[in-house]
Amino acid sequence: MKKVKIAVLVSGRGSNLQAIIDNIEKGALSAELAVVISDQADAYALERARKHHIPAVQVSGKGYKGKREEYDALLVQELRTRGVELVCLAGFMRIITPVLIKAFPNRILNIHPALLPAFPGLHVQKAALEHGVKFSGCTVHFVDEGMDTGPIIIQAVVPILDNDTEDSLSARILEQEHKIYSQAIQLYAEGRLKPE
Ligand code: GAR
Repeated sequence: MKKVKIAVLVSGRGSNLQAIIDNIEKGALSAELAVVISDQADAYALERARKHHIPAVQVSGKGYKGKREEYDALLVQELRTRGVELVCLAGFMRIITPVLIKAFPNRILNIHPALLPAFPGLHVQKAALEHGVKFSGCTVHFVDEGMDTGPIIIQAVVPILDNDTEDSLSARILEQEHKIYSQAIQLYAEGRLKPE
């Protein structure tokens, strides 16, 4: 099967990136990682990429406060230069603009640690616990111009336990994230995703 050329955009530790790398190396994912891009120079995700000989690029957000479109134009340039077909946001902590979205229509995915449309935004595991929901989980969705609003591709449900803390719940959700992100990318690679 043809391999889809993907980019993973990160800001931090990159455990979702690692799961994608591992699945590619195992042959479980028909994808080639063309580039990993971080807005943070010290993101551990960049190191993970380098260890696997994957191009790792920092596109610093410094100096782009209030100039999100200009920043996204840099991303588009980098992604196009590398021949990227599918952009995967994995803990990329920036709000992206129509400049990026229009350059890759229906070709940007995101993973979110809650069952959207419940709990969009940040600190969502804490919010789920505070709300007292009995189940949370994670969602892979297409990115549109809203905040965590695009069409849903896959979700995994994680029950909330009586003694859960933000950390324990986050860790159990993360285990599921590591499975469903690769599954969603594989569906894309197989031409089985229809965003409309
Ligand atoms: C993941 O839990 C991901 O779902 C979340 O950031 C974490 C990144 O972890 N993303 C968001 O909250 C986006 N709104 P990782 O760097 O270990 O993959």
